[in-house]
Amino acid sequence: LSKENQDVLKAYEWLTKLYHHLLRHTKEGKEGYKYLKDRGFTDEVIDTFQLGFSPNSKDFIAQFLEKKGFHKQSMIKAGILTSNDQHNNSTDRFRGRVIFPIRNHLGKSIGFGGRTITNQEPKYLNSPETDLFQKGKLLYNFDLARSHIRKSSEAVLFEGYLDVISAHKAGIFNGIATLGTSITEAQAKLLRRYVDTVVICYDSDKAGIQASYKASKLLRSVGCNVKIASMPDGLDPDDFIRKFGDTRFKNEVILASDTYMTFMMKYIKKDYNLNLEGDRIQYVESVLDEIALIERPVEREHYLKELANEFELTVETLSQEIHSRREKIG
Ligand code: GTP
Ligand code: MN
Ligand code: MN
Ligand code: MN
Ligand code: MN
Repeated sequence: LSKENQDVLKAYEWLTKLYHHLLRHTKEGKEGYKYLKDRGFTDEVIDTFQLGFSPNSKDFIAQFLEKKGFHKQSMIKAGILTSNDQHNNSTDRFRGRVIFPIRNHLGKSIGFGGRTITNQEPKYLNSPETDLFQKGKLLYNFDLARSHIRKSSEAVLFEGYLDVISAHKAGIFNGIATLGTSITEAQAKLLRRYVDTVVICYDSDKAGIQASYKASKLLRSVGCNVKIASMPDGLDPDDFIRKFGDTRFKNEVILASDTYMTFMMKYIKKDYNLNLEGDRIQYVESVLDEIALIERPVEREHYLKELANEFELTVETLSQEIHSRREKIG
């Protein structure tokens, strides 16, 4: 690690403590604390995840860093400070925002996510990508979740860090999230080293459902079994937990998650009008494509029967279709 990167890590460590202290114990952090309390976060959760607040001040953080002896240029380069004029003035990138420290897999802060509490754009501001902070390689909360993930051979993948934190509060400790991007191959492979099954628990809005489909393809391609959780009315996991409570989240969302095949059939069905003969045939063809990819014969037969029943076809006809598809795949 270069001297400059060591300094940046040190700065993140100091700032994580400072932002957290300001939120918990000072009047400068009161609005951030109130925001989190209003959203149902307990002191215990705020402490576990080291949530903080950056005061809405021009130079509070810059002065703090200067007093600690950090070089302004390094702080600007790391995206902690933002330089906005030629007079060497710099302001805190996250000022006025609630701070979510982003920890690496060893539990060290290497970036921040800052959420506005006054409806500013953007809603979330993240630290910029640097060689220390590579969003595509990192899973939020992996340091705390790792032992739980290993024990259960299962991870729950969320869309936002707030969902991870809410789920933790609800007693789900094997939750992780990507950082505002879709899951990458590197993240999928990392997970595969620890799990058999990933429960995808993205927001149940249109974007989230589409992202679930993409993520399930990628996770399956690296050998993970996937299940897909869903919530009513476009809710996200944090919304659901606040509205219906911990127990119902566990039973009606996590434990009730769909298998990949069930999810996939529901998902592609929306593209077809099954009252039309042509659409019906195309839909059956698409599902057969997916069934042909299943390795276990018992499982293939299960879905073939389901499909045969639904469309009043014979299992024999569908089996032939599977045979020719599998020959092509080789
Ligand atoms: P709340 O609205 O506070 O409940 O957060 P959320 O997690 O429900 O947010 P949302 O579903 O909109 O987004 C999920 C994740 O995408 C967040 O955790 C962020 O990582 C990321 N994200 C959302 N909005 C923005 C944005 O405006 N900019 C960036 N960079 N990332 C965002
Ligand atoms: Mn504390
Ligand atoms: Mn969303
Ligand atoms: Mn959301
Ligand atoms: Mn939300």
